[in-house]
Amino acid sequence: MNKIRLAILASGSGSNAQSIIEYFSGHDSIEVACILSDKLEAGVHARAALFDLPSFTLSDEERTRPGLFLDRLHETRVDFLVLAGYLRRIPVELVNEYPRRIVNIHPSLLPKFGGKGMYGDRIHAAVIETGQKETGITIHWVNEQYDEGEVIFQATCPVLPGDTVGRLAERIHQLEHAHYPRVIEAVVKECFHVH
Ligand code: GRF
Repeated sequence: MNKIRLAILASGSGSNAQSIIEYFSGHDSIEVACILSDKLEAGVHARAALFDLPSFTLSDEERTRPGLFLDRLHETRVDFLVLAGYLRRIPVELVNEYPRRIVNIHPSLLPKFGGKGMYGDRIHAAVIETGQKETGITIHWVNEQYDEGEVIFQATCPVLPGDTVGRLAERIHQLEHAHYPRVIEAVVKECFHVH
């Protein structure tokens, strides 16, 4: 049987991408086909190289002209898209072409601390500043709005007295690495009727 092929989209360091690559290496029905980024200098490229995995930087044209973006996905025979710290909006044409085939992870308990401009350390800073006792991660389907697709999974962690943005970010990353690969596996298997 041909394996189901994931593309991971990432704009940054790519620690989630790496945990997903590691999880699916040697998997019997799912494989990571490639990494796509909007940034040439993103750390995720070096992580992909560690695993001899192709990683591409999308040109501005490719990112903004959905036909070109889709050509790239079709050429690479991508079945399912995983966003892991990808900071660009996904064009509606892609959402339509991959219905319930695109997932994202967000480092807060959506709908709290979501929406335009809410990413990375800004989220953790807002969580601390507003005195939240707990925060967490949300894995959700992607629609054409930021952070508004249906929630698939959430996990929580405490915000501790004296937490800094860095310490909270680290706790959130641990939660992401522990859960995102398994949740992806479960939804991909369900989508493609793999048992
Ligand atoms: C993660 O916290 C993810 O939730 C958010 O962006 C961050 C990416 O981190 N969407 P990394 O590049 O995977 O280390």
